[in-house]
Amino acid sequence: MILDTTYIKNYIDQKQIEMYEHKKSHILKKLEAKDSMLDWYDMETCISCGELSNIEQFSTEIRKKCDLFLVVAIGGSYLGGKAIIDALSSYFSTGKPEILFVGTNLSTEYQRDLMTYIQNRNIILNVISKSGNTLETIRTFEPIYELMKKKYSDRELKERIYITTGEQESYFYNLAKEYKYPLLTIPKEIGGRFSVFTVVGLLPIAVAGFDIHALLKGVKKGKEYLEEAYRYACYRDYFYHHHRLVESFTIYEPKLTNLGEWLKQLFAETQGKEGKGILPILTSNTKDLHSLGQYYQEGSPILFETVIKIKSQDLNDKVSTAVLKAHYEGHTPSIVMILDELNEEAIGIFCYFMEVSATIGAYLLEVNPFGQPGVENYKQKIKEV
Ligand code: PA5
Repeated sequence: MILDTTYIKNYIDQKQIEMYEHKKSHILKKLEAKDSMLDWYDMETCISCGELSNIEQFSTEIRKKCDLFLVVAIGGSYLGGKAIIDALSSYFSTGKPEILFVGTNLSTEYQRDLMTYIQNRNIILNVISKSGNTLETIRTFEPIYELMKKKYSDRELKERIYITTGEQESYFYNLAKEYKYPLLTIPKEIGGRFSVFTVVGLLPIAVAGFDIHALLKGVKKGKEYLEEAYRYACYRDYFYHHHRLVESFTIYEPKLTNLGEWLKQLFAETQGKEGKGILPILTSNTKDLHSLGQYYQEGSPILFETVIKIKSQDLNDKVSTAVLKAHYEGHTPSIVMILDELNEEAIGIFCYFMEVSATIGAYLLEVNPFGQPGVENYKQKIKEV
C-alpha cells in the first residue's frame, strides 16, 4: 500500500508537520502497551487458533447446508464483514449461499418484504450483537426466528442459528445458552468498530467463500505501516486544526462503497466527541463528480479528501488522477492511498492501517478512542420510548 501526499503539498506547512514527531514515540508506546480495548491491535489477542478452526468448520457446514445465510446485525457488528465481502465479490455474484445482511433499520415495509423474500428459502442465521440487546437486531431477529421455528425442528435449529455476542447476560446470550445454539464469543476488550477481524467479521467472510488466512496475513503486514499510519493521522490532525472539518473518503471503485461506510463509523465514533473531530463523509466517483464535484472544486474550503485507489493503468485511474489535480488547483487537498490489488491481503492491510490511524488520531485530539457515550445516550432515549 502507498500513502501518496503529492496533492496536499501546497496546503501544509512542513515545519508544523515536523512538530508532530515529538509526540510520536509517546503515542506509539501507548498502542504497544495495549491498555484497555486494544486487544484488536495484535492478532494473537484478536483471534485465537481455536476460534479460527471453529470458524472454518462452521463455514464449511453452513456453505453446504443453506442457500441463504442471513446476518442480523447493525453498526460495528456488521459493517466490517459487509465491507470486505462487497469489496471482494463480483458485482453480479450468484454465489451460493446468498449472504444477506439485515437489521439496519426499523422499517415495517422492509420487514414485510424481507419475510416474503425469505419464507421459502433454506436459511441459516447468524445474529451478531456485542451487547446482545440492540433494538434493531432483536426486532429484526424475532419474526425470522418465528418463521424458522415453524420450518425447522428444535434439533435442526441448533444447526441453523449461530449467535455471536459478548459473554455477559443479555437477550441473545441467554437465548444461546437456553437452547444450546452455537455461541461465538466477542472478546470483551474489542469494541464493535474494531471487531472485523474477530468472529464478528470472519464468520460471514468465510461463509462468503473468502480466504480468511490471507486476510489475517494482510492484517499482520499492516503493522509494517505504523509510520505511515502515524503520518496519515498527523496530516488529518493538521487539516482539522486548519479549519478543514470535513473529510471525504473518496472512492472510484463502487465495490468499496461499504468500506467507505465502515470508515465513516470507524472515524466518527473514534474521534467525534467532546466537541472535537472531523466529520467523515463518503464520495463515490465518478458518479459524485457530477453532483458534489462543483463544491469540491470551488465551494467553502472546509474539507479535504482521502482518495482510495487500486493500482492500475485504466481509464478510471487516469480520470482519478486528473480530478486530483483539478481539486488540488481548486480548493481541496487530497491524501491518496493506493492498494496493490483488490484481494484479501490488501484489504487486511488497509483496514488494520485505518484502525491504527483512527486510534492515533484520537490520541492526538486527546479523546478516548474507544468510548461512544453519544451512541449510548441515544440508545437509552430509544429504550425509553
Ligand atoms: O461501535 C459501536 O459500538 C456501535 O456502532 C455498535 O456496534 C452498534 O450499536 C451495535 O451494537 P451491538 O453490537 O451491541 O448490537
